[in-house]
Amino acid sequence: MGMYIINGGNRLEGELRIEGSKNAVLPILAASIINGKNSIIHNVPYLKDVNTLVSMLESIGCKYSFVGNTVIVDSTGDLDINIPEKPVREMRSSIILMGAMLGRFKKVKISFPGGCEIGLRPIDLHLSGLRLLGAKIVESHGYIICECDKLYGNEIHLDYPSVGATENIMLAAVSAEGVTTIQNAAREPEIVDLQDFLNKMGAKITGAGSSTIRIQGVTSFHDVEHTVIPDRIVAGTYAVAAAITGGKVVIRDIIPEHIKPIISKLGESGCKIYRYDKDISISCSRRPNAVDIIKTMPYPGFPTDMQAQMMALMCTARGTSIFIETIFENRYKHAEELIKMGANIKIEGRAAIVKGVNKLMGAHVFSRDLRGGAALVLAGLAAEGTTIVDNVDLHIERGYENLDIKLKNLGADITKEK
Ligand code: UD1
Repeated sequence: MGMYIINGGNRLEGELRIEGSKNAVLPILAASIINGKNSIIHNVPYLKDVNTLVSMLESIGCKYSFVGNTVIVDSTGDLDINIPEKPVREMRSSIILMGAMLGRFKKVKISFPGGCEIGLRPIDLHLSGLRLLGAKIVESHGYIICECDKLYGNEIHLDYPSVGATENIMLAAVSAEGVTTIQNAAREPEIVDLQDFLNKMGAKITGAGSSTIRIQGVTSFHDVEHTVIPDRIVAGTYAVAAAITGGKVVIRDIIPEHIKPIISKLGESGCKIYRYDKDISISCSRRPNAVDIIKTMPYPGFPTDMQAQMMALMCTARGTSIFIETIFENRYKHAEELIKMGANIKIEGRAAIVKGVNKLMGAHVFSRDLRGGAALVLAGLAAEGTTIVDNVDLHIERGYENLDIKLKNLGADITKEK
C-alpha cells in the first residue's frame, strides 16, 4: 500500500510550484467527451485519480496521449455508454461522466459511486437536476440508467450548493435545447474553470463563481485548448507544512484569491503571509496560536478539504481551537490517528475540540482518506521521532503529485517505501 517514513523536526525552507487542480481537471476531463473532437488540456497533475478517469475515458472509446503535464483527449466517434463499474466504485467523482455522456449520447449506464469514506455522500441532487432537464432515470441493481430523447433547459434550484451536482448539470445542460439556470449553484473556483473550458469549446455559460449559472444550450462544439487552474488545496497544504515546521516557504504559480480563507486562518494563528500576483510567501517563526473556531463552509468559506491539515497544525498550537465540520458528517477519521501521536482532540458530533500540545510524537498511523492522510504527513513533519504514514498509494497519492519529493526538496526528512 506504500508508506511514508518521516523523521520530524526539520524546518521547511525554499520555494515550490503548485500543480494543477485535481478537482478542476476531473470534470474538465469528463467535459472532453462533449465535443466529439480534440481537447488539449495543460497543467494536468500527475495523480492516481487523473489516471483512473483517463483510463475510464479510454475504456469507453476515447483516445488519449500524455506529453508531460498536457493530455490530449480525442473523443471522436461513438463511445460506449456503459461506464466501467470498478473505477466508479473506487472514485466518487467519476459520477461526473453521467452529465457529459447524457448530453452527448442521450443515454448512460453507470454504477453508484464509491470514493473517500467521509460521509454518506448521496447523489440525489445530481439525479434530480438531470431529471429536470428531461432525463428518465432508473436505479436498478446498483446501476443508474439515464436516458432521454432530448434534454430541455429548465430552472434548477439546488437545495444545497453541491459542487458535483452543479458540474453534472452544467455538463448535461450545455447540450440541452434552450436555457438552463442553476440557482444556489456551488461557487468554487473549479466551477469557474469548468465554465471556461466548456465556453472555449463552444458552450454559452455565464455566472459561474456566483450562485446563479445560466447555460444557453448549443448544438455543436469544436476543438479546445485549456490550462487547468492551480490546486488551492495543495497550496494550502504546503502553507500548513511551512507553518507547522516553523519554516519559510514561497508557494508559486497559484491564484492567491482562491486560498484567502486558508491564509486568513493561518494569519490568525500568527504566521506572516505576503501575497503577490501569483505567489505567496509564508513564514512562522514561533509556535502557532490556536484559532478560536474553524467552521467548514462552501466556497468562499473555509474549505472542508483543508479541515484535517489545519487540525494537524492546531494540535501543536498554544491554546484550544474548535472545528465545526458542516459539509461531511464523517470527516474526523484523522483525529484518531493524530491522538496516537499525542494530540489532545475530543469529537462531539460535528465539532472537534483541539487542545494544543507542546510536542507531537512520531507513531505508526494510517491514512483513512485523502486529506486526512495529508494531515498525518504534516503532523509527522513536526513530531518528535519517526512517523510512519501508511496507505499512501490508496489515499494521499490520489490528490498530491509527488508529495514526498516536494517536501524533501523543502528540507523534510521523508522517504517512501513500497
Ligand atoms: C467536491 C470535491 C471534494 C470537496 C467537496 C466539498 C471534487 C472531485 N470533489 O466533492 O474534494 O470536499 O466538493 O467542497 O470536486 N450532497 C447531497 N446530495 C448530492 C450531492 C451532495 O446531499 O446529490 C451533500 C454531500 O453528501 C455533502 C455535501 O452535499 O454532504 C457537499 O457535497 P458536494 O459539494 O457535492 O461534494 P462533491 O462534489 O462530492
